[in-house]
Amino acid sequence: MERLNKFLASCGAASRRGADKLIEEGRVRVNGKVVTELGTSVNPANDSVTVDGVKVKPVSEHTYIMLYKPKGCITTVSDELGRKTVYDYLTDLNVPHLVPVGRLDYDTEGLLLLTNDGDLTFALTHPSHEVEKTYIVKVNGEMPEHKLAQLRKGVIIDGEKTNRSRVKLLEYKDGISRLRVTITEGRNRQVRKMFEAVEREVVFLKRIAVGELRLGGLARGAYRYLTDGEIAYLKSL
Ligand code: URA
Repeated sequence: MERLNKFLASCGAASRRGADKLIEEGRVRVNGKVVTELGTSVNPANDSVTVDGVKVKPVSEHTYIMLYKPKGCITTVSDELGRKTVYDYLTDLNVPHLVPVGRLDYDTEGLLLLTNDGDLTFALTHPSHEVEKTYIVKVNGEMPEHKLAQLRKGVIIDGEKTNRSRVKLLEYKDGISRLRVTITEGRNRQVRKMFEAVEREVVFLKRIAVGELRLGGLARGAYRYLTDGEIAYLKSL
């Protein structure tokens, strides 16, 4: 239970003193009933609180971070094989229920978002409106134009054609092609399988962007909090 004025303040509705005024003025309802008693307590998890008829809720108590996931770790909470997980890079963060938004393979590195905002995770990973993800890919061998065109148009993986994608050959050097690839789906091992479909083996895979969010200069294995602007952008998608 929490004092109603404190709860209103945590919602950004007013300062604590300002909240007392709102209560005295009869503008606050708890579960539909006007409350004018200043000492009232509410249960933030169950009670519905409105000010002037508008429901209020606490300003985000959610955490949003970006981790530069190194290769050699998995994106689940625990692993029956005892492998390293992304949580091994977050040991100084005391935030409950932080989960990865989507996943990256054991051998893939790069941008991984983690949050305890379940609504956002659901929205960003839902197949009907998946956000663009951009990767740097290195493969063995040359990438002739017809293979690039095949990848852009879509290739069959696991019996189903992939969506159109953006594929740019950046460099061919010492027997290795380096490309930038942007996809909108998040199917299992999608990039690796797309290149398998054009007979190329991925030897390096790094996610550099999710939508407009970029890994930038973040160090491998390091994390940072998202900015308010980045959070608002993700929620707008
Ligand atoms: N595609 C892959 O093949 N692996 C990843 O981790 C992400 C995209």
